[in-house]
Amino acid sequence: MIPAPWALLAEVTHACPLHCPYCSNPLELVRKSAELSTADWARVFGEAAELGVVQAHVSGGEPLLRPDLAEIVAAARRAGVYTQLVTSGVGLTAERLGELLAAGLNSVQLSLQDARRPGSDLIAGRVSYTDKERAAGVIRDAGVPFGLNVVLHRRNLDNLQEIIEVGARWGADRIELANTQFYGWALHNRAALLPARDQLDRAKATVAAWRETHGSGEGPELVWVMPDYYEGVPKPCMGGWGARSITVGPDGTALPCPAAYAIADLAPPNVRERPLAWIWTESAAFNAYRGTDWMTGPCRECPRREIDFGGCRCQAHALTGDAARTDPACSLSPDHGLVRDATATVGAGAADDFVYRKPGAPDRTDESPRIPG
Ligand code: SF4
Ligand code: FES
Repeated sequence: MIPAPWALLAEVTHACPLHCPYCSNPLELVRKSAELSTADWARVFGEAAELGVVQAHVSGGEPLLRPDLAEIVAAARRAGVYTQLVTSGVGLTAERLGELLAAGLNSVQLSLQDARRPGSDLIAGRVSYTDKERAAGVIRDAGVPFGLNVVLHRRNLDNLQEIIEVGARWGADRIELANTQFYGWALHNRAALLPARDQLDRAKATVAAWRETHGSGEGPELVWVMPDYYEGVPKPCMGGWGARSITVGPDGTALPCPAAYAIADLAPPNVRERPLAWIWTESAAFNAYRGTDWMTGPCRECPRREIDFGGCRCQAHALTGDAARTDPACSLSPDHGLVRDATATVGAGAADDFVYRKPGAPDRTDESPRIPG
């Protein structure tokens, strides 16, 4: 019996004004001309609700670039699905947020790249800090639940205390401190993003101290997403493959995880061709790494196999070329040396420039950290 999914990640577009070098979108971005229509998304939300989905992250790229976003949100609302807008804040005016709230939007998650303007704009690859500050004010004034998401890496970890203070000042209810997960664009930029162990130790102490002094609910709640390269223990990625969540990309590609575009032999189904119920229960892609029968190597006999599900399939594929291998982040993996070697070279003359996310395949020769605008 396959349990129902509870979450949908709706990537309504890959278009984005920002160029973050750790973007979770695939290296090959979907063109605007291939995007699902408003009616397609309305059908997807209806099918998702019937399947059991209760909440959706309406994401991108930058979802505000879809002029029909309010209609998409309204369709989710009619289907009874809770919606969270995941946005860079660029283009989020009081009018636009009012339109989305009237359509039924339930909450907003705003991204922040660093505590101060120059660092944030450098990481985003575009002048955008002021837009984010203004968007935070708009969200706070609307009184809608407000989450801040900060991807952490070598360039901003040392500013963590100040990042948390900015989140508190901007009125966030919750700050997700998401240590970079290295696949896709982030793996491409790993040499520039991978932190040193002592940076992580200091960051963890900062989070612990904040929780200690703000334990009684004053100030934002902090969520710490673990940096698996240093833990020796893999994360239970996506709560297990095909266990909780469905990603639908801008062109209707359906995946168990947003990074799974890169698994070349997965042959993902498309919502234009199949209903979501079939995709969830019957498709080869969603069944490929479900449960434990597919496991290889040390995972097969490991007492943690029902706890971490063998770690991350996308990371196993990205580092070893085989998504069925034990996640190399696990200290028991025969491939763990791939992760150990990467952490051993942090700061030892490794390349430090970003390859910014942009349409078209990334080019390692285009490494300038100049702001593209
Ligand atoms: Fe998890 Fe597999 Fe490592 Fe065991 S061997 S801890 S199941 S990844
Ligand atoms: Fe895809 Fe972990 S990111 S399974």
